[in-house]
Amino acid sequence: MPANKTRLMAVANEKGGVGKTAMVVNLGAAMATMGKKVLIVDMDPQHNATSGLGVDIHEDMVNVYDLISEPEDHRSSDAIVETSWKNLHLLPSHPDLSGAEVELVDKEGRENRLKNAVAEITGKYDFVIVDTPPSLSLLTINVFAMAKEVLVPCQTHPYAYRALEALFDTIEAVKEDINPDLTVAGIVPTFFDCRTRVGRDILDRLQSDDRYSGYVFQTPIRVNTAIAASSDAGKPVVFYSKSCNGTRDYVAVAEELFKRNGKRK
Ligand SMILES: Nc1ncnc2c1ncn2[C@@H]1O[C@H](COP(=O)(O)OP(=O)(O)OP(=O)(O)O)[C@@H](O)[C@H]1O
Ligand SMILES: [Mg+2]
Repeated sequence: MPANKTRLMAVANEKGGVGKTAMVVNLGAAMATMGKKVLIVDMDPQHNATSGLGVDIHEDMVNVYDLISEPEDHRSSDAIVETSWKNLHLLPSHPDLSGAEVELVDKEGRENRLKNAVAEITGKYDFVIVDTPPSLSLLTINVFAMAKEVLVPCQTHPYAYRALEALFDTIEAVKEDINPDLTVAGIVPTFFDCRTRVGRDILDRLQSDDRYSGYVFQTPIRVNTAIAASSDAGKPVVFYSKSCNGTRDYVAVAEELFKRNGKRK
């Protein structure tokens, strides 16, 4: 597969708890069941994507921190973990990643560490989906520098809606300074509960706001307890419960993402 066919996708939102990791794990797994080869990269020291895929961190494992802190000593192909599911691979995180910001502060090319580290492997996949921490740290900048697209989960809640403006400003700044090729793949409303007025109201506002409407996915991810339960069980929801709303929603988001192919509606 030619490397330029690989879709390099950051899942990002500086706001915490909006469903970034759930999207990385569950969308990645949904795509894998649909025959796509998927690499999930966990760039969050909280390592929730790593544990959400049922992978326990142990010390002799090469992880993403090793790749960006000591690039001359490690190869990304040695860090790949094959998960229990076909087509779904992982570059695991490590809690030490939280120190990378300080350690790399005076290092040359520090924004491009991840991009350089994964360059040799990305071409083997249809999708590389990268989880980010809830902050605009050097880790997130590294992800924006290697990605071509940003997928934005937005909780259907007033604070998350208001925070979108700052996120879009950040993405513009990254485009100007670091990665002119970066585009917004879409905004996926998350934690949607049609029974609450505030949820319906925020979804309406997202769909009618000129700044965002062209990016908003038709399928919101509904609140679904199977999503939280599956992450606790270390399994993507598509493998945890085939018929729950969480599985339906992530499969629908995957289908929409294939159709959109990086373009605005
Ligand atoms: N649609 C959903 N319905 C119910 N629970 C959900 C849903 N999406 C995510 N969750 C749960 O909500 C919690 C927060 O989600 P998640 O960890 O994906 O957010 P995050 O944006 O990655 O958080 P952080 O900013 O800390 O990285 C998790 O326990 C997750 O399992
Ligand atoms: Mg997370």
